[in-house]
Amino acid sequence: MNSPLNDNLVKLERLREEAALGGGPERISEQHKKGRLTARERVELLVDEGSFEEFDILKSSCGGTLAGSRRLGDGVVTGHGTIYGREVFLFSQDFTVQGGSLGVAHSQKIIKVMDHAVRVGTPFIGLNDSGGARIQEGVDGLGAYGEIFVRNVMASGVIPQISCIMGPCAGGAVYSPSMTDFTLMVENAYMFVTGPNVVKTVIHQDISFEDLGGARMHGEKSGVAHFVLPNDIECLRKARRLINYLPSNNKQTAPMLDLRDPIDRTDPTLDYLVPPNPNQTYDMNVLIHSIMDGAEFLEVQAQFARNIIVGFGRMGGQTIGLVANQPAVLAGVLDNNASVKAARFVRFCDSFNIPLVCLVDVPGFMPGPEQEHGGIIRHGAKLLYAFVEATVPRITVIVRKAYGGAYLVMNSKHLLCDINYAWPTAEIAVMGPKGASEVIYRREIQAAENPEAFLAAKMDEYRHTFANPFLAAERGYLDDVIFPRDTRHRIIRTLQVLEGKRTGRPERKHGNIPL
Ligand code: HXC
Repeated sequence: MNSPLNDNLVKLERLREEAALGGGPERISEQHKKGRLTARERVELLVDEGSFEEFDILKSSCGGTLAGSRRLGDGVVTGHGTIYGREVFLFSQDFTVQGGSLGVAHSQKIIKVMDHAVRVGTPFIGLNDSGGARIQEGVDGLGAYGEIFVRNVMASGVIPQISCIMGPCAGGAVYSPSMTDFTLMVENAYMFVTGPNVVKTVIHQDISFEDLGGARMHGEKSGVAHFVLPNDIECLRKARRLINYLPSNNKQTAPMLDLRDPIDRTDPTLDYLVPPNPNQTYDMNVLIHSIMDGAEFLEVQAQFARNIIVGFGRMGGQTIGLVANQPAVLAGVLDNNASVKAARFVRFCDSFNIPLVCLVDVPGFMPGPEQEHGGIIRHGAKLLYAFVEATVPRITVIVRKAYGGAYLVMNSKHLLCDINYAWPTAEIAVMGPKGASEVIYRREIQAAENPEAFLAAKMDEYRHTFANPFLAAERGYLDDVIFPRDTRHRIIRTLQVLEGKRTGRPERKHGNIPL
């Protein structure tokens, strides 16, 4: 005869098996046919092998006002595991159960692990694959989202929050990821507030899933996706790589990793990186890869506002956040999207004790009605505000152009940057030689026998006087003019000396960044 203990052991085994099946073999096979993994397969790939500990596998759905099947686990897998040995809490939505839709029990499971992550101080990762608020649960489903949003906001700046978008994410399912720090999106996933059918009904427009909210669109146009990956496996790998650059919480610094790259490694080819002709471009990535440990750099939002580059690397083993103008795209000009992209990145790094390194080659802010109407004043101010607010160690190297407001905004000494260097090729002035000469010598140019030759001569004179780093160095706005080949060594030594930086800002509830 079976004892109650044996009965319960058998029951537990059966319940676990049932929960692990999700929506059943048919739906799992449909998921696979779409090129997608199941919720549990994804978790296994995200965390270190054998490290996942699941919670609430036996929690069943609340049912809802409309008849809905009660399912164990309620369409979401939650728990914790390690990534490169460090704990993370996570959830993984199971599209095979009611489309991964979020009802009360589903949200209670997510909330529980979010609260644990904040309490323990670990990153939080969400693997999203959901049709949004569960329709059958009515207003309870909406409220359930609200509770998650509150926690996203409260956890912001306390623990890193990462979202992977791995299937359709509609309605409320997009707002939680949008408040997390980084969104990784698989190419065959979608994110939209209202789907193509609603678009058709309300504004009578036919639009495909891809054009409305596809990964490529979010990577290039909306800027919602920080990383776009071809499939689930690459997405989860990227999430692991990203976590490896970050501290577990805002009280810690990122883990050191020795890539065995000597800190005093010089690169003589950098002395020839900047072309002699100021209108000729070059690729800032050459400099970035040259100075990083092991030439490794994790670019964030690589396809969005490509005129500015942001991302993580290591220098002397320490994680740094890099912000660099890209002269090879729109001459590295600052426009609306570039300003917002860099501002958010700077704020992330500042929240999580990641020093900022800024490489400057910027001709100015993008002129024209499109940018002015789009709010370049508001958006440019965001970047300015973010740098001033940042108290982490800050280092700038002016590589070539640093003109006007853009000189100031790009982490200048005047915005409380700690240490500012320039290459001998730096040009620091109120504006470029042509614009400046045309303003100062307007009358003389008009009166000249050969206006073009006159302008060219004045531009030469201006370049000779202003387009160099020496005036700024004389005034102490630069701490040194350095040889390009020594850039890596100089930055790492500066990071080392700034390690003990202590600084505060006035006490207040919070500032009012020009959103
Ligand atoms: C309940 C849902 C659901 C939902 C999908 N399902 N979304 N069940 N609530 N929100 C169920 C479907 O009924 C179906 O069940 C199963 O999940 C798979 O869905 P399919 O439609 O067959 O899959 P697919 O063709 O891949 O389309 C996926 C989808 C589509 C694009 C996500 O299902 C869809 O448009 N869903 C509704 C999305 C939406 O409008 N959500 C907004 C909710 S309101 P069966 O049993 O038939 O297989 C909201 C507001 C929150 O979220 C606001 C906060 C700010």
